[in-house]
Amino acid sequence: MLIQLAYLLATGLFVFSLHWMKDPKTARRGILAGVAAMTAAILGTLATPDIGNWAWIAGAIALGFAVGIPLSRVALTAVPQRTALSHAFGGLAAGLVGTAKYYVWLYEAPANLTAFRTAAIIIEVILGFLTFTGSLMAAGKLQEIRWIPQRPVTYRFQNFSNLALFAIALLCGVALIVKPVQLSFLFPVILVLALAFGVLLIIPIGGADMPTVISLLNSYAGLSAVAMGFVLDNKLLITAGALDGSSGLILSIIMCRAMNRSFTNVLFGAFGQVQSAAATGEKRNVLSETPEGAAQVLEMAREVVIVPGYGMAVAQAQHRVKELYEQLNKRGVNVRFAIHPVAGRMPGHMNVLLAEAEIPYDRLIELDDINPEMPQVDVALVIGANDVVNPAARHDKSSPIFGMPIIDADKARVCLTVKRSMNPGFAGIENELYYSEHSYMLFGDAKAVIGDLVKQLAPHSV
Ligand code: TAP
Repeated sequence: MLIQLAYLLATGLFVFSLHWMKDPKTARRGILAGVAAMTAAILGTLATPDIGNWAWIAGAIALGFAVGIPLSRVALTAVPQRTALSHAFGGLAAGLVGTAKYYVWLYEAPANLTAFRTAAIIIEVILGFLTFTGSLMAAGKLQEIRWIPQRPVTYRFQNFSNLALFAIALLCGVALIVKPVQLSFLFPVILVLALAFGVLLIIPIGGADMPTVISLLNSYAGLSAVAMGFVLDNKLLITAGALDGSSGLILSIIMCRAMNRSFTNVLFGAFGQVQSAAATGEKRNVLSETPEGAAQVLEMAREVVIVPGYGMAVAQAQHRVKELYEQLNKRGVNVRFAIHPVAGRMPGHMNVLLAEAEIPYDRLIELDDINPEMPQVDVALVIGANDVVNPAARHDKSSPIFGMPIIDADKARVCLTVKRSMNPGFAGIENELYYSEHSYMLFGDAKAVIGDLVKQLAPHSV
């Protein structure tokens, strides 16, 4: 009875946790609720009467702490790959539990291997192991590990061979459901196919699409936990897994929408492959500006909109940006931040960085709210953003980002862009914004350039 109550409490808290995490004001409460839910779930499970081997449990908890604590200390820019690693562990846990359960029943109580349970085990291990290797590959790509190619790796009949492999794993699964004891040799075959499928699924996807894929893998891990719940007859696993699975799927859908791309394009489109080819277009003239000149332009402005992007995150320039915000504020300039839903490489990337630098949250304006005001803005200061301000998305039907909503930085009276070179961003395409006549480039690392601007604006600068 107490255990069921603990599970009920955990389920409720998980639901509230997700609800509170929707809004930055309640996000902290959401995290605390999630921690409390997990604690209730673990305590409830430990109180289950047939739990025995305490030494193993203590060892596993110690190992979990040893891995989890360093993982919690990674830099904000490394959060996507850290999340991928958590999913890898989740997938591995589900896969191992399913495997253990299958062999324990096979050797000790074959009658337990009913068609339903065997099917649940197979779903659990396929999803669990493919999430494990897929998430490891995704984390490796995001961490830019040398021997894992960042660019999509493609070959002839790739999608066909991948699907064929998956179909073989499913067929083996169906055979095992029909004869779970006699055909037990198929179980390791399914494991190996699932592990291989995880790797093959990820290699055709470019590094920058990984956040979308990671949240999709999150939903696979959740579904695998649902299957595990059926295998272990644990209702909490079923509900928590369903919450995990559906929230991962919803997040992937939101990301795809904000990029105006479909799931199939993300999974099979090998996006980002054309980068170097697209970058070598004809040479056009761009106007560049010095920090001194840019500081003067900013000083004279009334309305400034800062558009942050991935480059600001890479340069870790958010604290310099806060200083710039303060300097301009002191001069009576109204500074706001235009937030694109997929600026950066993970959902909410810009919000998190700007919050870390303690920029007031009410200064952050969403794309739909800021765009109508852009023609009245004196200066749009684009810091390490590229695709999310590319006007081609509005009119160039041949552009890979056509239809993606953008921040209309080009409509401001003057546009200043901070980036290191004329290299393209994630989508691998040129940005026509840089070539317009009221647009000036401030070449350099975002942290250094914004630091220079702050120096120019500081009261005692010469
Ligand atoms: P990008 O289009 O990738 O452009 C980032 C720019 O930052 C690059 O052009 C780069 O130019 C510059 N940069 C890199 N390091 C820098 C540094 N240290 N200092 C100054 N500039 C630096 O980024 P974005 O505009 O934020 O757009 C995000 C893209 O990612 C979109 O295409 C989006 O669809 C995609 N995406 C986002 C997500 C999520 S959830 N956020 C998920 C999947 C895909 P230089 O090399 O010349 O410096």
